[in-house]
Amino acid sequence: MPRSGYTGTGRDRSRAAYKAGYALRHPERIVPYVRRAGRDLWLRLRSRGDHVAYYRAVMASDTARSPEAAVGGGPSRERWLAIGRMQFDYLLRHGLGPGDRMLEIGCGNLRAGWRFIEYLEPGHYYGVDISPDILVEAKRTLVRYGLQERMPYLTPVDDLRLDFLPDGWFTVVHAHSVFSHSPLEVIDECLANVGRVLAPGGFFDFTYDRTEGPEHQVLREDFYYRTETLVRLARRHGLRARFMEDWERLPHGQSKLRVTHRLPDADRAPR
Ligand SMILES: C[S@@+](CC[C@H](N)C(=O)[O-])C[C@H]1O[C@@H](n2cnc3c(N)ncnc32)[C@H](O)[C@@H]1O
Repeated sequence: MPRSGYTGTGRDRSRAAYKAGYALRHPERIVPYVRRAGRDLWLRLRSRGDHVAYYRAVMASDTARSPEAAVGGGPSRERWLAIGRMQFDYLLRHGLGPGDRMLEIGCGNLRAGWRFIEYLEPGHYYGVDISPDILVEAKRTLVRYGLQERMPYLTPVDDLRLDFLPDGWFTVVHAHSVFSHSPLEVIDECLANVGRVLAPGGFFDFTYDRTEGPEHQVLREDFYYRTETLVRLARRHGLRARFMEDWERLPHGQSKLRVTHRLPDADRAPR
């Protein structure tokens, strides 16, 4: 279960008292925050309550400014490389092999994806994203790293029903920093459908912003969940979710859950 002594998870960033304290500590961030809040309000009004349409518009605006910053971690190329490497190395330590077949949900501009594409056998990487703008950047990443021969699939989606993908195909499904930007109904839709495309013995790793206090969201961009909410949701869809303790030791603000079919495949030990 979640590590003890970690103090960052009890804060409710949506509360006025938290925001006031934060503003006092970082006065230089007030103007950018107000600008972002105004932009987000306008985009929310335009998308009329459709979260995917709203977040797609956020991504279009952020990508136009900086594709690196649009996928989180700021505009620095070094940070972009380091966060991608962290995701890749973690899965390698958990037994990822070239023969695995990976679905990456919210693949962004392939911060980790280019490493997976380079490592996996040709045709074994499938990336989906709601943002056409970031997928154009993903294509640029493929060109930059000369990965044309690896034949990855990149597809825009507007929901997570995954209905265009085959049964039991993917041995690894991966969503890094996607549910941290998703309301519960989006996560629910994903968990309702991911079991169908997951191969026996396969797993679905996703990160999320963990809170041990009340669940909350900020600007409908960042969503904070209690671990038990997500574990329960997975169980409701016949899946088992396990908290990944070893991920907590990495320099990353989010936590990670690993979802598997509830009945482990008798022929293959869980990774
Ligand atoms: C913070 S970025 C992370 C991208 C990538 N996973 C990485 O680590 O670099 C989140 C990505 O998820 C995408 N996204 C957000 N909600 C999504 C959804 N419901 N379905 C698919 N992609 C989504 C965004 O467009 C964005 O590219």
